[in-house]
Amino acid sequence: MPAKNALVAVNGQSAELRLRSGTMGPDVLDIGLLYNQTRMFTYDPGFTSTASCESKITYIDGDEGVLLHRGYPIEQLAEHGDFLEVCYLLLYGELPTAAQKKDFDYRVTHHTMVHEQMSRFFTGFRRDAHPMAVMCGCVGALSAFYHDSTDITDPHQRMVASLRMIAKMPTLAAMAYKYHIGQPFVYPKNDLDYASNFLRMCFAVPCEEYVVNPVLARAMDRIFILHADHEQNASTSTVRLAGSSGANPFACIAAGIACLWGPAHGGANEAALNMLTEIGTVDHIPEYIARAKDKNDPFRLMGFGHRVYKNYDPRAKIMQKTTHEVLGELGIKDDPLLEVAMELERIALTDEYFIEKKLYPNIDFYSGITLKALGFPTTMFTVLFALARTVGWIAQWNEMIEDPEQRIGRPRQLYTGEPRREYVRAPHR
Ligand code: CMC
Repeated sequence: MPAKNALVAVNGQSAELRLRSGTMGPDVLDIGLLYNQTRMFTYDPGFTSTASCESKITYIDGDEGVLLHRGYPIEQLAEHGDFLEVCYLLLYGELPTAAQKKDFDYRVTHHTMVHEQMSRFFTGFRRDAHPMAVMCGCVGALSAFYHDSTDITDPHQRMVASLRMIAKMPTLAAMAYKYHIGQPFVYPKNDLDYASNFLRMCFAVPCEEYVVNPVLARAMDRIFILHADHEQNASTSTVRLAGSSGANPFACIAAGIACLWGPAHGGANEAALNMLTEIGTVDHIPEYIARAKDKNDPFRLMGFGHRVYKNYDPRAKIMQKTTHEVLGELGIKDDPLLEVAMELERIALTDEYFIEKKLYPNIDFYSGITLKALGFPTTMFTVLFALARTVGWIAQWNEMIEDPEQRIGRPRQLYTGEPRREYVRAPHR
């Protein structure tokens, strides 16, 4: 049945607002004309009831714990696909044929090197700088290098910029890591797949042969798939907002990286592992659960809760399986952190507070343990998230530019400051 319009009457003014229906999910009330018709804004800090755009890329049903990319369930993509296939799907809207996949892999692979001068940017940072600080700077710096792919009105240039970012992020992330630990940069190797190449750039050293473990490479690839896109989250909305002004694409992605860094968003994987380490042993868990429930204590159980999921995050389930696979492959039998994590999850899932507030483990709860087992320090966790989310940011950025309704994003406000007053020069000024 076609959606009906809604009549809003307020303070003697009325407006007819169009109801719009998507293919799935709640209808939206198009308030675009509200101000013109009533001279009123809507107020929704945190955007809990606001759809900021129309999108065909990712669908989430938070109540049911469903995540679809272009209609395909994340479980099926993670089980049967590889990361570059998911990248293709997000960018082009369909899964690639074998020939398209081969061509896409080739195109991404042959953009993996960064301009040699990029390495000088790294040396400008202190070695103890957080790798996310380095990534914000270095990805932003890409905008100073690739001038032949920044005409955002040209679809071909947009695709070249997109492939460049997907290809160069692993190289830059690995460079950030190598710089952090004082080892020489390792150049990409084009006969390796995306995840294997990344592991090699992170963990190889010039004095030894590095052999990629295929089980760990598959786990890395799956972690990338799980983080590839997640609808209009804070960093994606940041990329869209930055891009809405027509800004340089590389600079827009740097803006997304800056937003992702926060502990309420991508920084939660680092914070979750730090929390598990701080809890240390199972007998300390009740103390932390009590703190999480205490209104006067700012402490939160990191890796729990989500703005959209009010059910188990489907990515967390796959992540938990991957964690066991990685620990099994590495022969880590009694990892104390995993023990704490599993007990914490068990307690939280049966605790009234967490049940009532629908706080379930999210993807960051298990990803930290896996990444630590793979050999990454906690400071790199959010960098890996940024690497994987780059394709989502770019797909959403492209979609926004192609959207005929796209205009510069310009929210309004409820002003609560001083009303107009006159400037009076103080005698002493
Ligand atoms: N531990 C304890 N209490 C919590 C938690 C938590 N992790 N998360 C939410 N709550 C409580 C919160 O205190 C509030 O209680 P009340 O209604 O009594 O005031 C209620 O649950 C709702 O919380 P909220 O902050 O209003 O919810 P939100 O949608 O604004 O925040 C969130 C979502 C993810 C920021 C939040 O759950 C959180 O801070 N979680 C920990 C950080 C984390 O794991 N973030 C990763 C998110 S998934 C990856 C990504 O998308 O980046």
